[in-house]
Amino acid sequence: MSILITGGTGFIGSHTVVELIEAGETPIIVDNLSNSKEIVLDRIQTITGIRPKFYKADLCDMTALDTVFAENPDIESVIHFAGLKAVGESVSLPLQYYYNNLVSTLNLCECMKKYGVKNLVFSSSATVYGDPAEIPIKETTPLGQTTNPYGETKKMIERILVDVHKPNPDWSISLLRYFNPVGAHESGLMGEDPKGIPNNLFPFVTQVATGRRPYLSIFGDDYDTHDGTGVRDYIHVVDLARAHLCALKRARKVTGVEVYNIGTGHGYSVLDIVKAFEEATGKKVPYKVVARRPGDVATCYADAAKAKEVLGWEAEFDMVAMCRDADRWQTMNPNGYDA
Ligand code: NAD
Ligand code: UD1
Repeated sequence: MSILITGGTGFIGSHTVVELIEAGETPIIVDNLSNSKEIVLDRIQTITGIRPKFYKADLCDMTALDTVFAENPDIESVIHFAGLKAVGESVSLPLQYYYNNLVSTLNLCECMKKYGVKNLVFSSSATVYGDPAEIPIKETTPLGQTTNPYGETKKMIERILVDVHKPNPDWSISLLRYFNPVGAHESGLMGEDPKGIPNNLFPFVTQVATGRRPYLSIFGDDYDTHDGTGVRDYIHVVDLARAHLCALKRARKVTGVEVYNIGTGHGYSVLDIVKAFEEATGKKVPYKVVARRPGDVATCYADAAKAKEVLGWEAEFDMVAMCRDADRWQTMNPNGYDA
């Protein structure tokens, strides 16, 4: 049996494909390469010894997606990573974000229905909690106001999937709300490869530490946190990848829609990260404090107890591993996947 991995050449998808192969599963990747590169397949092959089947196709193209299902009647589950994810870009290109993220998901569900595939794991985000009503955030914490189209697509897709489940009660749908995925594969062969200036903290820090950028801008030091800088729940991407295997295992046994926070349950401030990174790598991270970034919240970290109790999953890698692996990836690949 095969597992369809949409967005499987992307950051989280590629790490999940490696974990799946190492667990003896057979992933099939579909990705339009809008935010990833085909060379990722070489890296997966180098790490695992296996080159997964790959379709370069856009999920918004129903004919192309139907072909993937038609040619692979043994697909039994889907992990749906494909989507556009840059918050700032979503504000300037709202139509593109709503179209891509929603139409791709609708097409995927149509194909799953047509071909009798009933297990779906979806990449949601802690962004659906908005400015969280409580900390740590539980799955029962009310959803909040999103501040950008990207975040709204995650909320809308969660709702769509809940509605799709109603007339299809034998489906199993897992909504995984990721906190802040960081780090890289320990081989240094796979990692995060953002286009242009990174929006997220970790890639920015690694680019500063390796001299690609002069300093980190810290977005505000006047939040109500232990040192005034924003607090987040950073999770190693390999831990996150493994959470998908646990969700898949459960999806094969139960039906329903289930929501899980996927984080470590620990909050680190921006200054904590700078210090941890410098200690783990021995590299300096010069920084300047600048104005707050619009839309940022002060504190966001998970109560990850449900994933542990129900999925039997919990994060294993600590902050030292996250910093060390992110730095190794950046050092071995100063220009990401570009030679
Ligand atoms: P990514 O951009 O590295 O991977 C997404 C992949 O989807 C890319 O390879 C891209 O080419 C592909 N894609 C996009 N639209 C497509 C389409 N219409 N058809 C086919 N392929 C398409 O992003 P990632 O960091 O690996 O994130 C994976 C998922 O997790 C996304 O849905 C993202 O929103 C979600 N998520 C990510 C984070 C994070 O911080 N990285 C946090 C929460 C949720
Ligand atoms: C951001 C997105 C969120 C998305 C998540 C993961 C916004 C408003 N939110 O969240 O929707 O799900 O990424 O992709 O963009 N920081 C700096 N300097 C930097 C970069 C970040 O100080 O150059 C700070 C931020 O203010 C924040 C922390 O570092 O306090 C983490 O930022 P980031 O990595 O962008 O993640 P989120 O803000 O959690």
